[in-house]
Amino acid sequence: MISVGTHIESFPNANCLSRNFLIHHSSNRYKCQYPIKPTLPAVGGFEGVGEVLEVGHRVTNVKPGDKVISNTATLGSWRTHLVCNSSAVRTLPEGTPLLFAATVRVNMSTAYRLLQDFEDLQPGDCVIQNAANSGAGQAVIQIAAARGVNTINIVRDRPDIEDLRSYLQGLGATIVTTESELRQNEKSIMQDVPKPKLALNAVSGKSCFVLLKQLQPKRTMVTYGGMSRQPVMVPTSSLIFSDIKVRGYWMSRWHEETATDSK
Ligand SMILES: NC(=O)c1ccc[n+]([C@@H]2O[C@H](COP(=O)([O-])OP(=O)(O)OC[C@H]3O[C@@H](n4cnc5c(N)ncnc54)[C@H](OP(=O)(O)O)[C@@H]3O)[C@@H](O)[C@H]2O)c1
Repeated sequence: MISVGTHIESFPNANCLSRNFLIHHSSNRYKCQYPIKPTLPAVGGFEGVGEVLEVGHRVTNVKPGDKVISNTATLGSWRTHLVCNSSAVRTLPEGTPLLFAATVRVNMSTAYRLLQDFEDLQPGDCVIQNAANSGAGQAVIQIAAARGVNTINIVRDRPDIEDLRSYLQGLGATIVTTESELRQNEKSIMQDVPKPKLALNAVSGKSCFVLLKQLQPKRTMVTYGGMSRQPVMVPTSSLIFSDIKVRGYWMSRWHEETATDSK
């Protein structure tokens, strides 16, 4: 067993990483809308970083002073202290900035895996995504830009669209557009980027049509969220004539499946 103290600090720049400090996962969980239901009474919170205070004499995988994040979806990070089995946590490399450590488990890791696990993306390739201003979407933009991969980023109409456009372009977005702009000016918006190899869907419903219309034949649309609360909608022609692959991704499953290795 180990004893962990949670880092509770104010992160003044937190909104640079996620629009809401309470990530969507945590709010779904809090409303009992998440598939993994903890045994009650339970502590909420998916994200957070802790510092190991003490370890039992047989523990070898962590030591006092290590910064750790949860390995499981049910540990609950909204707490000041925790006593748990050492296998319930994962050690972060020394020197990992606290803000990064506290938020890496869900949205940033999801973005990384989405870009890594479904298509072989090379510099110059292109990815299209909806909900591009979400925490996960912003992470996709930044990781893709660091790899030289173009992103077409769909956001919802809003009065301050130009502010959002320049903010996301500042993160590395290639194109920021709304669905209506893309419908009206598709040719000019898409003229300087290749057709996307990968579509990332966090909205579902009819928003999938917009992603699939741009996707290269035989490539993949990965659904990782359903913000519209609608089913995934796929035109029959996308399956028959374009032979696209429709996949899903769940970060919690990845954490469970890889909890004991070093990925
Ligand atoms: N599968 C996984 O492992 C995994 C991991 C991480 C996240 N997710 C999912 O990814 C999604 C984003 O999570 P997040 O924490 O990054 O969210 P977030 O930062 O809270 O952002 C929410 C996003 O959803 C958009 N949105 C809200 N309601 C919408 C609607 N009715 N139609 C279309 N768009 C809507 C928002 O756009 P506006 O700004 O226009 O409101 C914003 O872009 C969630 O569905 C979450 O569950 C899944």
